[in-house]
Amino acid sequence: MQQPIAFIDLGPQRDRVRERIEARFKRIFDTGAFIMGPDVEELETALCEFGGMRETISCGSGTDALLLPLAAWGIRPGDAVFVPSFTFAASAEVVAMLGATPVFVDCLPHTFNLDLDSLQAALDDVRREGKLRPACVMPVDLFGQAADYESVRRIADAHGMKVLSDAAQGFGATTQGHMAGHWADAVATSFYPAKPLGCYGDGGMVQTNDADLAAVMRSLRVHGSGADRYDNVRIGMNARMDTLQAAVVIEKLQIFPDEIEARMRIARRYTAALSGAVTPQALPNGMVSTWAQYTVRVPDGRRDAFMTEMKRQGVPTVIYYGKPLHRQSAYQHFPAAGGDLPVSDELSREVVSLPMHAYLDEATQNRIIEAVHASMRAVS
Ligand SMILES: Cc1ncc(COP(=O)(O)O)c(C=O)c1O
Repeated sequence: MQQPIAFIDLGPQRDRVRERIEARFKRIFDTGAFIMGPDVEELETALCEFGGMRETISCGSGTDALLLPLAAWGIRPGDAVFVPSFTFAASAEVVAMLGATPVFVDCLPHTFNLDLDSLQAALDDVRREGKLRPACVMPVDLFGQAADYESVRRIADAHGMKVLSDAAQGFGATTQGHMAGHWADAVATSFYPAKPLGCYGDGGMVQTNDADLAAVMRSLRVHGSGADRYDNVRIGMNARMDTLQAAVVIEKLQIFPDEIEARMRIARRYTAALSGAVTPQALPNGMVSTWAQYTVRVPDGRRDAFMTEMKRQGVPTVIYYGKPLHRQSAYQHFPAAGGDLPVSDELSREVVSLPMHAYLDEATQNRIIEAVHASMRAVS
């Protein structure tokens, strides 16, 4: 009987960092500094260094990390924030929570990231209708791969818009050696446990080089507090990161570069072995992805049968995402570029993610690769 394959196996990583994290936990238990303890500050400093950014604001989740900069910029009703439709709900949710309008943009069929022509079409729609003010673009680093920030920056500058990177899945990804913050006004990430850099609960962070923005976000993170903690100068929220979670991320950050390399190696092997049978997410030259998911396209209505066949062979697969946001009940009334997002629709019908984590050994990966080939033969 073969060992069952995990979709994401956090066990080997936990074994690697367990002792160091437990030592930190012990110290936190002993001192009782559960909220904004010294580990939070240590983590923020380490993340600034890793990300090459001047300011890091740790927070309670990736969703908080998106909400904080939007709230700090004063995004409000009447503002348009351009968001890809093929993403997790949180990207658009934070915009709608502030009463602003997410305007859905299509994505590219090979990289699955924001399509600049569709962004331009959405901007033209908004300008023509004249009801909304273009305020912000939010590229999403889908499955760990950075969007085309250089081009997005150019378009955003031409329209006086902010760029907020939703790097919830892609913190650590680079384009020609640069992370998203090289171009974006703010970068948000999530430390949800299954993310490439995850904690053991909820957590997130925002990075920026803008000290004024950082100061407002720090205030918003703690109920809009002013210089005096009980003098609230703006409406804020509770978005602090637990000290215990900060302790986890500090230790995992030490091994993160090594893990990104492992993910790149595993993804390269998958792509070399699978490209004839299915269509993997394409990674352009000069880019490093964190491969939060390894996702392929199975066309012609065969995806569900393929997944059933994979399951029969003991290989778990997951669909991210089965319905683009512009088709979902909570979001379908918001505008979509040109009224139609064909690539997002197509991807939702075709994508399927395979097991991926930094500790996937070659023998297990070979089993998965063989299962993909056998399943594709079975459904053809
Ligand atoms: C693209 C994207 N944005 C935002 C989030 C929100 O992160 P969190 O779950 O930490 O709030 C996620 C996490 O699932 C995500 O994948």
